Amino acid sequence: MLRASRALLRPQLLNGLPRRPIPRSSRSVCHRSAARHLGASLSGFRRGGAVNRPGDGALIRVGSSRGIYGRGLNRIVGAMDVSLEPPPFPSVACVDEGPTAWTGDLLGVAVFDDELEANGEKGKKIKAGGDLAALDEHFGGALSDVVATFDFGGKAGSSAFVRSGMASAPVRVGLIGMGARDKAKITPEYGASVFASVGAAMAAGAKANKSKAAAVVLLGVGEDLGAVAGRLASGLFLGAYEVTRFKAKPALSPLESVGLIGFGGCEGVGDAVERAAIEARGVMLTRYLVESPPNVCTPAHMADAAKLIADKFPDVLSLKVLEREDCEKLKMGCYLAVARGSIKPPKFIHMTYKPKDATGNEKKIAIVGKGITFDSGGYNLKAGAGSLIESMKLDMGGAGAVLGAAMIVGALAPAGVEAHFIGACCENMISQDAYRPGDVITASNGKTVEILNTDAEGRLALCDGLVYAQEQCGVEAVVDTATLTGACIIALGGNVGGLFTPSDSMAAQIKAASQTGGEKIWRMPLEEEYFESLKSPIADVKNVGSRWGGAIIAALFLKEFIKTDTVKWAHLDIAGPAFQLDKGQATGFCARTLAHWVAQYGSG
Ligand code: BES
Ligand code: MN
Ligand code: ZN
Repeated sequence: MLRASRALLRPQLLNGLPRRPIPRSSRSVCHRSAARHLGASLSGFRRGGAVNRPGDGALIRVGSSRGIYGRGLNRIVGAMDVSLEPPPFPSVACVDEGPTAWTGDLLGVAVFDDELEANGEKGKKIKAGGDLAALDEHFGGALSDVVATFDFGGKAGSSAFVRSGMASAPVRVGLIGMGARDKAKITPEYGASVFASVGAAMAAGAKANKSKAAAVVLLGVGEDLGAVAGRLASGLFLGAYEVTRFKAKPALSPLESVGLIGFGGCEGVGDAVERAAIEARGVMLTRYLVESPPNVCTPAHMADAAKLIADKFPDVLSLKVLEREDCEKLKMGCYLAVARGSIKPPKFIHMTYKPKDATGNEKKIAIVGKGITFDSGGYNLKAGAGSLIESMKLDMGGAGAVLGAAMIVGALAPAGVEAHFIGACCENMISQDAYRPGDVITASNGKTVEILNTDAEGRLALCDGLVYAQEQCGVEAVVDTATLTGACIIALGGNVGGLFTPSDSMAAQIKAASQTGGEKIWRMPLEEEYFESLKSPIADVKNVGSRWGGAIIAALFLKEFIKTDTVKWAHLDIAGPAFQLDKGQATGFCARTLAHWVAQYGSG
């Protein structure tokens, strides 16, 4: 078994030359001279031996950023040495001044829509006699200006700022809508809290106005203000994110501090803000991994990221990275079949969380993520417009979420649970040795699979991951998460993940976790009759069935690899929400839901 620390023995680069010996792992897997191997993989942009993938960043800089996590994350000349260090978050804390005494760059006043009333033909106006009217008066009518100029109606998520024009007031003041008072919840039934959208609006306002010092005042909020502050901080840390690491001159937000005004005695605020930061660091890690072009985020990069996380929480996290030979010993024929077409060696990541004072009575659970760092489709090449081949760096979104969740769980250190974080990472490529349509392969539980389509590779990587979780970790419950099917995007669109499970108790647990995580999932049926189309004339099962209900059929395929009598299982298809195709941005979807599931499992 090769320990992950070996990953750090990879050569550092200086003027493109290796400075340290090539580790045995790279030598043995490539079956070619070490120098040739390095030449091919290090200068992939120029040599004929390696191909450019759609979506690769054409970046010609090395060693741009270091950060506390150090370097050595990337060994490809022409691509960036990106840092996985989370961004510095602004400080969020209560301030003593009231809204009329605070001075700084940007003051946001968050209001429910009932603070405004109809203004004849002219949209809305601030209701007379209330707190908002008093503030407006103090600022010389600047807030009324916001309402009139921007047609502000208090809608949730809306916001606008204007210059105050006053010497002894914040430079800019503005309004942030919280929508209807009765709908404003810390943990809504479905989706993110409106208080997170207040934080996101502040972050966006600060970025747009280049504000360093901001403050926010909530008018008329009666909820637990500590928890409100937590949600607000979460929106601040995550809400206005833009990809920056791959730009020569990243446009960073100058926001340094956000004062909270009117949070009563400030009880619980510090803890809630710290917890929000812990979660945001996990979500950011997932975003960083998913947004990275496929020439940067390789299976080895995923393993390096896992090592960074494990090193951050050495008391509770340990890491094993299974190399190709290790997976061969475990007979992971499906996962290895997918990996075979790529020059990049597969990395099967297994991180274990154990509480510091473990009693041995912890409940054992696992989460397994699909980690296809680039999905070309293989011989069933993703071809033509709409195939989304150029977006297929997102296809490690499941494993990325697993690592983000591990980062959160490591920091939260919940009791009562032993959690296994598994990422089946490899690349789905084409080569002389790639797997073919028509191949029959054998999974690690002995089941044989007839390959009808090499583009249905995620379920193949996952099935060996699921068997591993059950056989090697002895878990009582397992959740897998994957950007598994285009069909799930057709069904649920880009905002909602699909949940598939035969177990109502698992469905309830995952739903609860997604609610506290503020992420949208929807339970889908596991329609058993559709399994008919997965029956193979030659093998135990085919890897694709009918086109109709494709997300359900993929889930039914996975279910074949679960000992449903003894192990509870749920599958999350996050093909839609992992990545915003229109914005080109990763969301970090599922890291929080998974982390909450693990933490809640320990206490439940
Ligand atoms: N990674 C894709 C699924 C996907 C598509 C994710 C678009 C995000 C956006 C997966 O490996 C795939 O190719 N699935 C096929 C399955 C089919 C061949 C049965 C699909 O969805 O078309
Ligand atoms: Mn595919
Ligand atoms: Zn895929």
